[in-house]
Amino acid sequence: MQAVTNTVSLRGASVAVPVDHGHEYKTLLADISLELTEQRIAVIGANGSGKSTLLRLLNGLVAPTSGTVTVNGYDTARDGGKVRSQVGFVFTDPLSQLVMPTGREDVELSLRRSIRSGAERRAAAERTLERFGLLPLADQSIYELSGGERQLMALAAVLSVNPRILVLDEPSTLLDLRNRELLRRTLAGLEQQVVLSTHDLELALDAERVLVVDAGRIVFDGDPAEGVERYRSLCEASLP
Ligand SMILES: Nc1ncnc2c1ncn2[C@@H]1O[C@H](COP(=O)(O)OP(=O)(O)O)[C@@H](O)[C@H]1O
Ligand SMILES: [Mg+2]
Repeated sequence: MQAVTNTVSLRGASVAVPVDHGHEYKTLLADISLELTEQRIAVIGANGSGKSTLLRLLNGLVAPTSGTVTVNGYDTARDGGKVRSQVGFVFTDPLSQLVMPTGREDVELSLRRSIRSGAERRAAAERTLERFGLLPLADQSIYELSGGERQLMALAAVLSVNPRILVLDEPSTLLDLRNRELLRRTLAGLEQQVVLSTHDLELALDAERVLVVDAGRIVFDGDPAEGVERYRSLCEASLP
């Protein structure tokens, strides 16, 4: 497997949103500086700690209020289009992502910008579906698929355009054990750089590097086993 190498840089990135009719600001992320070069990175932390906001910074879904975020040299605030063509984003709930009636149509839709010819697009969609073992499900209504099948379909649609980086926001939260294992294997086999947030500590332990987010700050950055321990002790400390 040929690994795709990337440099994702956050330099003093903060995200603040106006609250109370703009009279006050709430800081969602404070002064984050990171170089994300590892192939497998997991972000863990409590609900509301800032994980999704951090992931959304990586493809420009959220722009930093101050500081910069760059992906392979492209600034997410200035070159959003270039950034999004390099960074695929998978949401927790595949139904918020799959917009077409069937998986096949969704994969073809994803390819619309990169492949002009309809015949070539259909062939490319077919290859992607085949690669993920999804051909038998390709023409079923997405509502008739199981949660795991839907998640894989959403993943296939995102990967069909071959992004260099894959960002997934809590991808296993809605999955049962079997589908979670299927997702883990699928992720393990990807050549893309993968950055994901998760409450699934086993999935976090699959990473090379773990970031622990707490109240909008990175409170740990390093070895996965240590990161998970750090998260457990934060959690213990917050219990009544
Ligand atoms: N657009 C927004 N406006 C106001 N508050 C927000 C917005 N987006 C997120 N938040 C708040 O920011 C905090 C961090 O959210 P989020 O990044 O979604 O955390 P996590 O993914 O770790 O649960 C939460 O308190 C959330 O309610
Ligand atoms: Mg979240």
